[in-house]
Amino acid sequence: MAQRIRKAVFPVGGLGTRFLPATKSMPKEMLPVVDKPLIQYAVEEAQAAGIEEFIFVTGARQDDDGRSFRSFLRARGHARGARQGRADRRRQFLDAANRGRWPTPVSRKPLGLGHAVWCARNLVGDEPFAVLLADDLILAETPCLKQLVEAHASTGGSLVAVMEVPHEHTNRYGVLDIAGDDGRLVAVKGVVEKPDPKVAPSNLSIIGRYILQPEVFDHLAHIGRGAGNEIQLTDALAELIGGNKPFHGLRFDGRRFDCGDKVGWLQANIAFALARPDMAPAVRRILDEYC
Ligand code: G1P
Repeated sequence: MAQRIRKAVFPVGGLGTRFLPATKSMPKEMLPVVDKPLIQYAVEEAQAAGIEEFIFVTGARQDDDGRSFRSFLRARGHARGARQGRADRRRQFLDAANRGRWPTPVSRKPLGLGHAVWCARNLVGDEPFAVLLADDLILAETPCLKQLVEAHASTGGSLVAVMEVPHEHTNRYGVLDIAGDDGRLVAVKGVVEKPDPKVAPSNLSIIGRYILQPEVFDHLAHIGRGAGNEIQLTDALAELIGGNKPFHGLRFDGRRFDCGDKVGWLQANIAFALARPDMAPAVRRILDEYC
């Protein structure tokens, strides 16, 4: 029986360059889709999967220093004492426990997703944990992380959400080298970050939901910069594979939207609005008008 997944890491310190100028004054995770910020969808997805402790890794933005994200949490009554000592802060966040625990955001430099996850190592400790990238928004009957957690109960080890992408887009994703595939679960023998389509081992790509083993921190501690001159989570995963625990991909049920991209975000707004009975008729009328 695999160990229960209690903690989730939300890297929210990216620069959001594909969404400038909107992201000049706020983190991309604060962009609303219909009427909720992306980060709220991710947090609710994690809650639905049974996560109890929520770890936010914010970036030190030149013009914002993560303030708008913290004030969002504070407005929801989750975050307090951002300027106190670390122990104090942790205690206070732990106190906000009736809907789960909300440890302090961890400031970091934007050195890449791998570095962001590594910044959460002390709060995660020695247990498997989830990572959610809020700009990957997933519309699904069963929330995507819940699908992963349920599958993980039988696979154990590490498990990542995957989907097929057009071959020419492999250079946007972490891509799997496949050892076995039953149509839903994929046994993985390697992963490559953003491979050129000419050399990509497959077109099965990682979407921003991960269940990882704490050993990943040992690898993150020493890997150098990879694709895009960033410290890549995928490079640490590549080292994790072949260790003493299994590594799988899960083709999840649901539709994923890349909300770090303007068109993807617009598409998400339409899809999520159409999924809401209170809005669908009006949105359909508007779409008819424009099309
Ligand atoms: C990140 C990961 C990549 C993954 C992708 C999913 O890339 O590095 O492996 O496939 O998220 O959205 P990014 O979108 O930050 O470039």
